[in-house]
Amino acid sequence: MRVELGKEKINDTLFSRKVAEELLSIYGSPLYVYDAVSLHRTIECITKAISYPRTQFHFASVTNGNVALLQIFRNAGWGLHANTPGDIYLGLEAGFNPSQIVYSGSNLNRAEMEQVLHWGVNTLNFDSIPQLQLCCEVVVQKGIYNSPFRLGLRLNLPEITGDSRIGVRPEEFITGLNITNKAGLKLSGLHFYRGTGTNATNAFTQIIDKVITTAQMLPDWEYLDFGGGFGYPYRRGGASFDWQEFGRKITEKINNLESKKIELIIEPGRAAIAKCGTLLARVVSVKWQDSKQIVGVDSTVANLSVPSVHGGYREIITYQQNTKIANSQTYITDVCGNTTYSRDYLGKNCQLPALEIGDIIAILDVGAYGYAMSSHFLHRPKPAEVLLENDKHRLIRKREDYSILLSNQVFSLNRS
Ligand SMILES: Cc1ncc(COP(=O)(O)O)c(C=O)c1O
Repeated sequence: MRVELGKEKINDTLFSRKVAEELLSIYGSPLYVYDAVSLHRTIECITKAISYPRTQFHFASVTNGNVALLQIFRNAGWGLHANTPGDIYLGLEAGFNPSQIVYSGSNLNRAEMEQVLHWGVNTLNFDSIPQLQLCCEVVVQKGIYNSPFRLGLRLNLPEITGDSRIGVRPEEFITGLNITNKAGLKLSGLHFYRGTGTNATNAFTQIIDKVITTAQMLPDWEYLDFGGGFGYPYRRGGASFDWQEFGRKITEKINNLESKKIELIIEPGRAAIAKCGTLLARVVSVKWQDSKQIVGVDSTVANLSVPSVHGGYREIITYQQNTKIANSQTYITDVCGNTTYSRDYLGKNCQLPALEIGDIIAILDVGAYGYAMSSHFLHRPKPAEVLLENDKHRLIRKREDYSILLSNQVFSLNRS
């Protein structure tokens, strides 16, 4: 059976107009809403897709660092993938044990490397030989042996990783082995990352053999981290990563290995969390430019940067208050944010019905790289976040107020 995580999203993740109204009236607008039931379903679907018994899933919290959501992954038996020390900090706050956190990041300075090791993280995949060297130096100098240590290298092989800055070429493995040997440690892992948002399943399945052959160059090879990068079908009916197919292929290939002890780490970000998140905003202005509808909402590109700044498509649906005038006729519509920044769009050239002030728009599938990429650019405080579970909801991050714009600023109070 082909499992497409986004296929049923309209029925699956969307709440009624009544619930949208209730949420906005309680928590204010704009508002990030996460559907716990949908998230549980996605986690289950991904987990079940890979039957290889020594598989461990680690949620890539670069996509969403809300602690309440991280706890859902922890309770489901997943670990955490950390891109940065900040990811580790949030993961520990969410209750993950350091041994459940896999660090696969880039370019730590010495103080950060010490911090990561002090926190007790013991699976670390490095992006360069100097980073491996730094880790080994810190381990030896400070005597921080987080056993059982699992050190790995991120793979850079242009034929499969393309033109990527990340990773280490196989010809450098020997240098890495010398460094770990000297420190009395082992180089036991290979980490592969396809690149984010890849929907073509064969872009993963076709290179499994090559990644495995490369990993076998490490004499103490124990684990394969196959990364994240698994796509999500933002466009209904569009290409969709097939977890069942991927799970079948990777299980078969690793099962065929002579060494039956290889551990498989999978660290999905977007594929796990995109679907459950929705950004609600209220319409504050409507005007027409010829046949185009220009809808102004009380949110901004700084709350959700992907559609406008990074060119990603996110579907927008509407909840109209005046159901009498709601009909199926749609118009080309730009959904504009509440600033005059030239890129302040939340959607461009969408097909939406004629809207009125007070209507609600819902931007779908924003659980990944949504709030996590929001900023204080344009000096608007960030929205609140709410977790919805069936008909219950609770605040999981407070709305900011204007005081946040002053935080850490140093100035003297001289207003004359
Ligand atoms: C090493 C690694 N793993 C996983 C992820 C998550 O990626 P995605 O959201 O595409 O699954 C990232 C994203 O930066 C990453 O760098």
